[in-house]
Amino acid sequence: MKHVLITGGAGFIGSNFIHYLLRIEPGIHVINLDALTYAGSLENLKDVADDPRYTFVQGDICDTEFVGELLKKYEVDTVVHFAAESHVDRSILGPRQFIETNIMGTFSLLEAARKFWLQEKSLPLENVRFHHVSTDEVFGSLAPGEPAWTEETPYAPNSPYAASKASSDHLVRSYGHTYGLPFTMTNCSNNYGPYQFPEKLIPLIILNALDGKPLPVYGDGQQIRDWLHVEDHCEAIHLVLKKGSIGSTYNIGGENQPANLTIVETICEILDEISANDNHKPHKNLIEFVKDRPGHDRRYDMDTHKISGELGWRPRHTLTEGLLNTVNWYLSHPEWVSAIRQKQEYKGWLDANYKSR
Ligand code: NAD
Ligand code: TYD
Repeated sequence: MKHVLITGGAGFIGSNFIHYLLRIEPGIHVINLDALTYAGSLENLKDVADDPRYTFVQGDICDTEFVGELLKKYEVDTVVHFAAESHVDRSILGPRQFIETNIMGTFSLLEAARKFWLQEKSLPLENVRFHHVSTDEVFGSLAPGEPAWTEETPYAPNSPYAASKASSDHLVRSYGHTYGLPFTMTNCSNNYGPYQFPEKLIPLIILNALDGKPLPVYGDGQQIRDWLHVEDHCEAIHLVLKKGSIGSTYNIGGENQPANLTIVETICEILDEISANDNHKPHKNLIEFVKDRPGHDRRYDMDTHKISGELGWRPRHTLTEGLLNTVNWYLSHPEWVSAIRQKQEYKGWLDANYKSR
């Protein structure tokens, strides 16, 4: 792993992963290919912008020729593919972009990698890797008491987002099976932590609570997600890149499954404790139950025995400690927060998703 192309590196998990890689791999060159959609921001990478080991390239993963040129120019041996449209609610209101980016974009990257690595044989095959970052949402929804998903569980995606990610997973697998493309894949549960765009539950609740705005809880708030701190996710991906077996997929999860309402209440309690502004305390009075998400998945739960058994990975953060450090991160980065709040795409999204709920 010398020249690593990270797609979507200006987004939430991608930017955390770039920070992680530069910290842990002194000899690495990271090329970040990102289209800078509403979800991507170079603010997330300000502190590494001048690092000689880091190169930013603005561009679209759907442009196969452009990606091919990048692979050649930088002699890329490893692709770590994060770029995606990633928000379920947006996929419900406008699915087309999800098909374009998540399916066609992955196809485009696979084609560029196939040409450079397999047809032109530009690098020794044992040195190259296509790592695909995916989600637990491809598995659908669990009923109470049903066992957690394993790597063998059949896919049953429910939202356009989940279906587009499932489709991209199948494409990656098929390139391994048909063409011999050396790939690994990870399916991870809900992430939280620094740099997450505040359309997702945890940062949305933190920012609304700080503003004294309503805290929207969909339906009865008893839906369950398997929360993982983003640094634990980064560590797991790095481990799979180093030690994972080619052609394998690994489930990654946080080993905890609180209901959404519990998450929201916990954030309120943390803010009651640490926020300097007393005006909105107790924050839980801001909770508002709103119209449910159509087709809302009820419960996610990942069985992580494969990655813990084979690679020795386990999450390091407990949810309590991870949430506290996340709330602190948003409190201590007012410039980052205010830059996002001023984005028209952010204000527009709040209107589109919440006004009619
Ligand atoms: P994000 O929405 O924060 O970031 C996505 C990034 O991709 C942005 O920087 C955006 O500009 C970029 N991008 C979008 N379209 C692009 C294109 N056509 N070309 C180049 N760049 C493009 O997403 P995230 O939450 O960081 O998720 C990253 C990956 O991890 C996604 O593949 C997602 O499916 C997966 N994942 C996310 C979670 C989660 O909880 N956030 C959990 C499991 C898996
Ligand atoms: P989200 O962060 O959008 O992630 P995902 O849909 O990928 O799991 O949502 C997490 C959970 O929180 C999900 O069950 C939907 C719920 N939710 C709310 O109740 N209110 C909100 O305003 C948002 C954004 C999500």
